[in-house]
Amino acid sequence: MTTQKPVVLIGAGGHAKVVLDLCEKTSLPVRGVIDASLPPDASFYGVPVLGNDSLLGDKALKAVCRFVIAIGDGRVRREIARRLASSGAELITLIHPSAIVGARSTFGPGTVVFAGAVINCDSVIGGHAIINTGARVDHDCRIGEGVHLCPGVVLAGTVAVGDWTMIGAGSVVSNNRAVGAHAMIGAGSVVVEDVPERSLAYGNPCSVRRLTGG
Ligand SMILES: CC(C)(COP(=O)(O)OP(=O)(O)OC[C@H]1O[C@@H](n2cnc3c(N)ncnc32)[C@H](O)[C@@H]1OP(=O)(O)O)[C@@H](O)C(=O)NCCC(=O)NCCS
Repeated sequence: MTTQKPVVLIGAGGHAKVVLDLCEKTSLPVRGVIDASLPPDASFYGVPVLGNDSLLGDKALKAVCRFVIAIGDGRVRREIARRLASSGAELITLIHPSAIVGARSTFGPGTVVFAGAVINCDSVIGGHAIINTGARVDHDCRIGEGVHLCPGVVLAGTVAVGDWTMIGAGSVVSNNRAVGAHAMIGAGSVVVEDVPERSLAYGNPCSVRRLTGG
């Protein structure tokens, strides 16, 4: 019998609750959560709170656990991803059993794919990304590091999304379009033209409103 290294969730908010549920659905052992907002002896839906983010450098924990950043906020996730990269911690990629993944599509370390998501053939998804509930990514898409596709997003074929961009719930990106890095697309948008990096854009048709400064 193979034993799986337990998982440590970084973060203990609403997003972490859904990541924990995913771990439980896939029978992954969860060692605990790291979060500064809860006391160290508390419990997070039945798993122990291990302490605050000073544990990211804990050699004993890193030796026996794998980590996932369970924080929806992109800026916080990016900062912790940077710290984890230099700590040498092992990351885990989580894919909900109800997600459908086409041939040759790949996912980077630390990425989480939630219930009902569909990723079609030959798409490449970077690390620390969130493919949220029911999001659909069609064939040959290129999704950068840390990208958050919120619930119900639809990317048609051959869409590119730059690093750490968030695409709001229910948005649609038309085929062959590119959304630049560090951008924010508002909920319910319909993207029919490329969106430059660091833009905050929304609407149907989606248009740039200002820079994000992200
Ligand atoms: C776009 C967004 C980031 C806010 O941008 P903002 O510029 O700070 O927007 P404000 O709240 O100041 O609203 C400014 C105007 O834009 C409108 N607006 C905001 N978001 C909009 C959207 N997604 N689509 C269309 N119009 C929108 C507002 O109604 C407001 O209109 P008004 O000036 O006529 O009153 C936010 O509304 C949004 O869509 N976030 C995504 C949420 C999401 O998908 N969450 C999922 C988490 S898993």
